[in-house]
Amino acid sequence: MNETIKIIMERRSVRSYTQDQIKDTELKSILDAGMYAPSAMNQQSWHFTAIQSKDIIHRINEECKNIFLKSGNKQLEERAKSPKFDLFYNAPTLIIVSGKKDNIAPEIDCATALQNMFLAAESINIGSCWIHGVTTLENSESGKNLIKELGIPEDYKIVGSGIFGYKAAVAPEPAPRKEHTVNIIK
Ligand SMILES: Cc1cc2nc3c(=O)[nH]c(=O)nc-3n(C[C@H](O)[C@H](O)[C@H](O)COP(=O)(O)O)c2cc1C
Repeated sequence: MNETIKIIMERRSVRSYTQDQIKDTELKSILDAGMYAPSAMNQQSWHFTAIQSKDIIHRINEECKNIFLKSGNKQLEERAKSPKFDLFYNAPTLIIVSGKKDNIAPEIDCATALQNMFLAAESINIGSCWIHGVTTLENSESGKNLIKELGIPEDYKIVGSGIFGYKAAVAPEPAPRKEHTVNIIK
């Protein structure tokens, strides 16, 4: 198996991190990998907000917690009531990926960018995980203010985010792959 395919097979979502910050060169490699993802009509619809401030990551977590609590969704409310609520699993780096709303396929462009980042991270032995909850930030006025404060351009919407850091535990084995999802026609 070549190195790239090995990395694809071995990448797992990591939910336990050491508190050492990743190096600037590692962050740059991850961001560059995101920027070189494919995008519809090469529009590169993404905007990356890399956050390495514990305080700011904590503020985003608290904002999302309040939004979950008022969401009217029982499952989200229950999750947010937990004293251990931490969307970001205490990871030292968070990259929010936002897509330009009026482009062709901002969500898809952002997803290809995030996956490139996850694979680049794995290739340098950095753990990562997609975190969806940040997309709820726009559901409250204070969340919207925080989005502004983070410098996310007005014509972009948050599509997702990735957390990154050194792994503190071995990730579990991958779940079995679903059957009958491939049809090869020759
Ligand atoms: C669109 C999307 C949203 C996700 N959101 C979350 C999330 O909010 N929190 C989380 O812990 N994992 C999240 N994940 C990670 C998935 O749970 C994970 O990819 C899946 O269980 C397969 O495991 P693996 O990544 O280890 O192969 C998300 C993945 C995707 C693609």
